[in-house]
Amino acid sequence: AVNELWGGRFSRGPSEIMERINVSIGFDKKLWAQDIAGSKAHATMLAAQGIITQDDADAILKGLDQVAEEIRDGRFVFKTEHEDIHMNVESRLKELIGEPAGRLHTARSRNDQVATDFKLWVRGALQRLDGDMKALQAALIEQAERHVDTIMPGFTHLQTAQPVTFGHHLLAYVEMLGRDRARVRDAIARLNECPLGSAALAGTPYPIDRAATAAALGFDRPTANSLDAVSDRDFALDYLATASICAMHLSRLAEEIVLWCTTQFRFIRLSDAFTSGSSIMPQKKNPDAAELVRAKCGRVIGALSGLLVVMKGLPLAYSKDMQEDKEPVFEADDTLALCLAATTGMIQDMTPDPAAMRRAVEAGFPTATDLADWLVRRLGLPFREAHHVTGRIVRLAEERACGLSDVPLDVMRGVDARITEEVYAVLSLEASVASRTSFGGTAPERVRAAVAAARERFL
Ligand code: ARG
Repeated sequence: AVNELWGGRFSRGPSEIMERINVSIGFDKKLWAQDIAGSKAHATMLAAQGIITQDDADAILKGLDQVAEEIRDGRFVFKTEHEDIHMNVESRLKELIGEPAGRLHTARSRNDQVATDFKLWVRGALQRLDGDMKALQAALIEQAERHVDTIMPGFTHLQTAQPVTFGHHLLAYVEMLGRDRARVRDAIARLNECPLGSAALAGTPYPIDRAATAAALGFDRPTANSLDAVSDRDFALDYLATASICAMHLSRLAEEIVLWCTTQFRFIRLSDAFTSGSSIMPQKKNPDAAELVRAKCGRVIGALSGLLVVMKGLPLAYSKDMQEDKEPVFEADDTLALCLAATTGMIQDMTPDPAAMRRAVEAGFPTATDLADWLVRRLGLPFREAHHVTGRIVRLAEERACGLSDVPLDVMRGVDARITEEVYAVLSLEASVASRTSFGGTAPERVRAAVAAARERFL
């Protein structure tokens, strides 16, 4: 059938294949609440400006509320012949209130309409995201507080480097999420200009009040350039970039959870709630949730690259290409919300094993740097020489298959005769972490303060 909204120019309807490639209602119906809110703000403004009568506006507002109710109750029939959410709502409005429905689209185009709807949706998604990130921070901070002085190996190159505390390690992720949340705030602040009233691309001759619709929809101000307003999808890209970086952080944490759960590490245990078994190997408990969080990051990054590729090279202003902006954002949003929830669940669920962490850290000569520092401080050796002396002592410890604190004094003295009994005080794990009191360091007293500061800053 000929389209009822633009049928004047057309003598026949679209081919079946045209309908299939053109239709977006399957996914953009997610925007229904934003579409109705935008239309209500627009109709209210049109009446206030004397562009339509108050009676027509009242009929429109009442009709839109009714459409909203039908959608909310699941009674609304979405039709593919109406293509997208905007035309589905308007067609139903016409069925409900008749002629006044046709006045709603005065001084408006689907181009400014969809940009407005989608911005409103993305703004809501960012606000939800912030809450989910905060919940994960809370879970991390809680575990960190329990383990401010639980010693584990700190790694570089995934080789044991220096002892750190498990609390300190967890708080590193709290910082990452803090930056993710700052990106969310930035994205919200940047997107908060209202495209409505830009019309198709050039603005409109009607005496509209863009400041009024912007304010009614919670925007800070109207967008400044109509061409930019209808062809800008930076806000969706900001969302996806922010989501991608957060997903990358979750993927790194997930990888550590996978490692920590191995029989070789055993730093933590996950309960049955966050693991699954093997259909053949009865002994297995696999950290599937962590593996999936690690993997699903790929979808979010894929959504970002996908939309960047859609947008690159598009001339001003609107092109239908831009209808492809929504699915990647919706998909990334579902994925990230699930990953954040799963990660929060795992952090709350995990049982750290301090004894296993200790066994691991003892194996790797983690206090070698402390020994070298002692040689510098007490014997006045240049650091490079202290490094060399320590390296030889490490080699001897390795040959004897013991830790640094178990190397006898006479053996150490064989490397450098000036070494005294006093050196053993800096070789313990406790002494090592306790000594790292610099701001941002791993000393338990610092970590305790960092936990309190994190609560203050983020929760
Ligand atoms: N469904 C369209 C989209 O998502 C709405 C805008 C259509 N505008 C147009 N000029 N065809 O982009």
